[in-house]
Amino acid sequence: MKTILVTGGTGFIGSHTCVELLKAGYQVVVMDNLSNSKADVVKKIETITGRTVPFYRADLLDVPSMDRIFREQKIDAVIHFAGLKAVGESVEKPLLYYQNNVSGTINLCEVMHKHDCKTIVFSSSATVYGMHNPVPMTEDMPTSATNPYGYTKVMLEQILTDLHTADPAWSVMLLRYFNPIGAHESGLIGENPNGIPNNLLPYIAQVALGKLPCLGVFGDDYDTVDGTGVRDYIHVVDLALGHIAACRYAFSHKGVEIVNLGTGSGTSVLQMIKAYEKASGRAIPFAIRPRRAGDVATCYADTQKAKDLLGWTAQRDIDQMCKDSWRFTVQNA
Ligand code: NAD
Ligand code: UD1
Repeated sequence: MKTILVTGGTGFIGSHTCVELLKAGYQVVVMDNLSNSKADVVKKIETITGRTVPFYRADLLDVPSMDRIFREQKIDAVIHFAGLKAVGESVEKPLLYYQNNVSGTINLCEVMHKHDCKTIVFSSSATVYGMHNPVPMTEDMPTSATNPYGYTKVMLEQILTDLHTADPAWSVMLLRYFNPIGAHESGLIGENPNGIPNNLLPYIAQVALGKLPCLGVFGDDYDTVDGTGVRDYIHVVDLALGHIAACRYAFSHKGVEIVNLGTGSGTSVLQMIKAYEKASGRAIPFAIRPRRAGDVATCYADTQKAKDLLGWTAQRDIDQMCKDSWRFTVQNA
């Protein structure tokens, strides 16, 4: 049985991936510094799966504590989620983002190399498609960024590619996520951002709950079905299953592969409001606001490569995503 180290394993996507890895028969070791998650998530993963999960509270920037994990556990591969992800904060604190995400990942790779673990699945983002590519996004399109968070993803894709060029024993999967939402059907794990959410779904959930009065819709004059921004929302459990497929592929192939993880279809902000109203049975008051800087009109994935290479496609629809998000929101209010 292979053992996977999940960095950022108590976070939103990491926790769901731990559940699916355990269900698929892998052993899982979690490390996280808990800067954006809580330790009780480990217990919840154990409750859902009935399995035990070793947890290390450790920081990517603390090399001795990273080294300790690899000395104590026989790690076959790493799924690397740990990182900071708030776009606005990255503009205010670029050095924090470059240090945490870029230096942290370099530390991780050095420790992996030292312990002869050369299989890594990395969380990249559709943000690397930048502002100027046409939809649907294909993996061979040029990459760019508009903020330090996005640049960390562009840089890390390059760094991990260079690592394989220098040492072909590495197996590197660069997974570009579109917009992960939803929660586990148990309602035990989900997305719980600190403070006022920046992203659409967590914000809608707080409005439905009555914690926030009104959603601001950032622009209604885009060239889209109803003028509002269109995105490729993907259920976090489907995304987690994409990681299982990527691990399976990485264990049997050396090299670097870039793969989009999305559904291939787009949903507008107004369509999402309607779907969430249906799932929650609550009204979502909204007001049209100016466009948000850095937003594109439409972003969705070409999913052919994920299908051909990994045999993976997303299964869950928007209604399911909203239903699961609402269940988690109510249970954790
Ligand atoms: P999250 O914040 O819920 O999880 C990330 C986890 O990493 C957190 O638990 C945090 O405590 C931990 N962490 C951060 N810095 C660390 C460090 N130096 N050492 C140890 N742990 C550290 O975020 P998420 O939504 O689960 O995202 C996971 C990854 O996927 C991130 O790399 C993110 O950039 C990427 N991603 C997320 C989205 C999204 O919309 N959620 C989209 C594209 C890509
Ligand atoms: C944002 C980030 C992106 C990051 C991703 C996941 C920006 C510019 N982009 O993507 O880099 O990878 O989150 O963390 O921040 N919207 C509203 N009102 C809101 C919030 C959002 O109308 O209060 C709209 C947006 O304009 C957009 C859609 O909803 O059209 C989705 O927004 P969001 O959830 O923030 O995701 P992205 O912008 O796709």
